[in-house]
Amino acid sequence: MSGKRGLSAPIGYRFGMEMSLVDRWICGAEVALRTLSGGSRAERATPLPVPGDAAPDAVVPAGLGAEDKRLSGALMRVNHVGEVCAQALYQAQALATKDPALREQMAHAAREEIDHLAWTETRLAELGDRPSLLNPLWYGGAFMIGLAAGRLGDRVSLGFVVETERQVEQHLASHLDRLPAADAASRAIVAQMKADEAAHAVAAQNAGGIELPAPIRAAMRAAAKVMTTTAHYL
Ligand SMILES: [Fe+2]
Ligand SMILES: [Fe+2]
Repeated sequence: MSGKRGLSAPIGYRFGMEMSLVDRWICGAEVALRTLSGGSRAERATPLPVPGDAAPDAVVPAGLGAEDKRLSGALMRVNHVGEVCAQALYQAQALATKDPALREQMAHAAREEIDHLAWTETRLAELGDRPSLLNPLWYGGAFMIGLAAGRLGDRVSLGFVVETERQVEQHLASHLDRLPAADAASRAIVAQMKADEAAHAVAAQNAGGIELPAPIRAAMRAAAKVMTTTAHYL
């Protein structure tokens, strides 16, 4: 199984660069264009099947029936939308903070999210399915939410990252239950994403993220539910 490869993190995600606010907004626009145009490339290799799952005999295994293939495509489209939103959120939150160390932490997580974006995009194509038609809308909405969280201060912004990543981790765990057993390739991708999201949550908590109030967490869950339900079909 091969995924997209190459050193292609957007300029704004590369280490050691001092940039003005205008430069950072330009880089943010570059990230948006890459995210929405399907031009993202993974730096890490596509994950291998998880223990207990047999290596697939083909990109689309013979044992994966038409119905299961459609289900896999729908679930991977939802996960791809989640990664589109992750790019928007991290971009906006990195733009909002004045702390260079926090900006770098956000950029580091965002680079791993680019891998997720590229893996899910490639897998969608392999399954003969397509990304969500509403991706520009998801990106724009998530960017505004990220900016709002960032403006509430770094500890709230980090708390928002902690809660978002935890909810995504739970969501991915549910997908590991739902993805067809025969689709080891998709399952491997989701398993690695789940591990990465958990690490992002821990890093944000260790950096000082506060626990968000229960009503905010519930509202985030409700918003995510709208997105995942819609993206399943659109
Ligand atoms: Fe992700
Ligand atoms: Fe993440």
